Amino acid sequence: MIATRPDPEIPAKLLAWYDTHARALPWRALPGEPAPDPYRVWLSEIMLQQTTVAAVKPYFAAFTQRWPDVAALASAPEEDVMAAWAGLGYYSRARNLVKAARVVAEMGGFPDTEEGLRALPGVGDYTAAAIAAIAFGRRAVVVDANVERVVARLFAIEDPLPGARKAIREGADRITPDKRSGDFAQGMMDLGSRICTPRAPRCDVCPLAANCAARGHDPERLPIKAPKKAKPVRQGRAFWIEREGAVWLVQRAGTGMLGGMRALPDDGWSAAGDGAGGPPLSGVWDEAGVVRHTFTHFVIELSVLRYEGVPASVPGKGEWWPVDRLEEAGLPTLFAKAARLARAASERLL
Ligand code: ADE
Repeated sequence: MIATRPDPEIPAKLLAWYDTHARALPWRALPGEPAPDPYRVWLSEIMLQQTTVAAVKPYFAAFTQRWPDVAALASAPEEDVMAAWAGLGYYSRARNLVKAARVVAEMGGFPDTEEGLRALPGVGDYTAAAIAAIAFGRRAVVVDANVERVVARLFAIEDPLPGARKAIREGADRITPDKRSGDFAQGMMDLGSRICTPRAPRCDVCPLAANCAARGHDPERLPIKAPKKAKPVRQGRAFWIEREGAVWLVQRAGTGMLGGMRALPDDGWSAAGDGAGGPPLSGVWDEAGVVRHTFTHFVIELSVLRYEGVPASVPGKGEWWPVDRLEEAGLPTLFAKAARLARAASERLL
């Protein structure tokens, strides 16, 4: 619960710290500069959902070089965007990205309110608040995981997550200023990632230490998290079918796990259950190994089976893809790992 009255100087202290310590990031304007392009803010915020700054940077650079504005992205074929997203995960983001770009291009520009932004595909409460504050200077309460940690400590909120979210949001609301709320939000994010870190927070150099209710009371334990449930482990098989230097790749069904992405054919495993087993063709198959990959709600153990030769038929709708250009296929990480195993097995057999 909120144990202290917030000091009205909290936003001023945080903004002064941000003015000298802001991380320079490719999608940001530095403090005092004009607000950044809403397209770049939107694109970065979508990419940063559940993904680290370090992982996002090269994708952000590639996307903005290839599609420098929302009109360019709106006219891109969806498959190209999906392939360019490969490796970043949570692929429904890429599908929604194209849909939202088309809506925005049609509207002639981004909506400039939280409510208007929230109506775009893929934009939830957090992302709408972040874009409204950062790109449009609106007062908005922006709470991501870093901000959540800072606020839980600042007000010593002892309830476990996710129940604590309401109190954390109220705390964030109480300290969000009317002006510069985008800088304030990003300052809180930077404080969370650099000073108020999950382990060993650096309270000695924190600009808000004097206001922090958790200081000296083991801040590291906050926010308290409900124990994690063990993820179910699913078993599946993926099939590498190679003939004359090309491998058979399929396009996964538009909805569902990795929907719309290019992939190796598989046996239909999902979050809900194991795959059906057996290879899709009769003939001789080699076992190339097993790939283990963690998704949000489950772990998949994928056995990779290899078939070499000219099959009478091939499973699913797809295309023969040159093995030496496989990097251009845009395989999601799970299937890129499976492909590496299959290729290593081919080399061993040579
Ligand atoms: N995570 C999400 N949005 C961010 C931003 N604008 N700056 C740094 N980290 C972020």
